[in-house]
Amino acid sequence: MRTPVAAGNWKMNLTPDAAEALARAVHDAAPGLPGVEIVLCPPAVYLASVARVVSNGPVALGGQNLYWEAEGAFTGEISGHMLRWVGCRYCIVGHSERRHVLKETDDEVNRKVRAAQRHSLVPIFCVGETRQHRESGQMEEVITTQVRRGLDGFAPRASGDLVIAYEPVWAIGTGLTATPQQADTVHRLVRGLIRQLWGDALAAGIRILYGGSVKPDNIEGLVAQPDIDGVLVGGASLKAEAFLAIARGCRLRSCS
Ligand code: 13P
Repeated sequence: MRTPVAAGNWKMNLTPDAAEALARAVHDAAPGLPGVEIVLCPPAVYLASVARVVSNGPVALGGQNLYWEAEGAFTGEISGHMLRWVGCRYCIVGHSERRHVLKETDDEVNRKVRAAQRHSLVPIFCVGETRQHRESGQMEEVITTQVRRGLDGFAPRASGDLVIAYEPVWAIGTGLTATPQQADTVHRLVRGLIRQLWGDALAAGIRILYGGSVKPDNIEGLVAQPDIDGVLVGGASLKAEAFLAIARGCRLRSCS
């Protein structure tokens, strides 16, 4: 049984006060949501204050990005060590905004995935095709390449060492959501690729999340799919009520 994940990617949003208040609302509600793993990924400058709020509770903390070197002259970057020191268990790697806006390559994403593991962080490794890829029939090839290149040389010892997020670029922040069936098709593709890489047991245990315009009103259909193990939420994670409704929706999966 894969424990569902409700992860909030706050991206580059919120004031310090709003970040702390949102973290507190999620922290206070989380004990009432057993059976769902809740992860908050604030902007790096708010990690320490959010860590203080959620420490000693069930909510886990994640970074939004990391650099692959451990320390040194890398102005503006943040290492896996630093994310660990501040209390992170997870780190998003290869988010589509980093791939497409910041021009991160598969090779860089791969270095980051492996660096996360070296620093005992669980990567939330993101893949996703653009609308153009999908419309020109390249979805499968693009996802396969991102998975194979991004995870090259990564060696999970247990299924908890990696979380994958399928985030179709055309569904992020657009209000367009993949249908549950469209998403599940890609999740099955990804799980098949994981099986080829690491065998049945890890493929059966690794959680694959969906991301892209997830809202309280579409969560049920998504988590009802057999291979969708939770969600990575952007816009709707910035409002406690909406995010907690999504987390409650994820519980339907753990109860089924
Ligand atoms: P939205 O939920 O705002 O579409 O963002 C999804 C996302 O990119 C989460 O990482």
